[in-house]
Amino acid sequence: MAIQPVAERNWWKIPMDREEAVWVTIALVWGVIMFLMMPYWHVYGQQNLAHTAVRMTPAEYMKRAEQMVAQYKVREETAQNIPVVAPPPGSDVYLVARLWSWWPILELEMGKEYRLHLMSMDWLHGFSLQPENVNIQVHPGYDHTVTITPNKKGTYAIVCNEYCGVNHHAMIGRIYVK
Ligand code: CUA
Repeated sequence: MAIQPVAERNWWKIPMDREEAVWVTIALVWGVIMFLMMPYWHVYGQQNLAHTAVRMTPAEYMKRAEQMVAQYKVREETAQNIPVVAPPPGSDVYLVARLWSWWPILELEMGKEYRLHLMSMDWLHGFSLQPENVNIQVHPGYDHTVTITPNKKGTYAIVCNEYCGVNHHAMIGRIYVK
């Protein structure tokens, strides 16, 4: 059809066909529904936690993370001797993202509230909690804080879901909930 010359040069003056009007209406209504789903799902979808982000230098953030690790380290795990940290309920918990690991391993208690902080030391990483559906972008220079209350015991994996280089696929962390 499109390769033929236009038969009616003033085609926009031809009244809309009934079928076309129906499709235009369906598309418009669907578009509005999808648009309203965005605020609806933000509030009721329980997918993306509301978080705050404040500017902080990676060095300052690292200092706080190291302080927490020194204070609450309970053991070390994995071949890289990553510290396992059990911070007290209600406290500030710091998780460091960098090429290509999450540091340290956290050990949290079920039903207790924590303020989880996230920052990248280099560039963009993605915090994706498995098997839960929690996704947070992690930037350098911003301290992202989320209030969390673990509601299920188990071992959770943190995978990086923002492509960050050759070992992106190996950037896996761990959280224990007891
Ligand atoms: Cu970090 Cu992908």
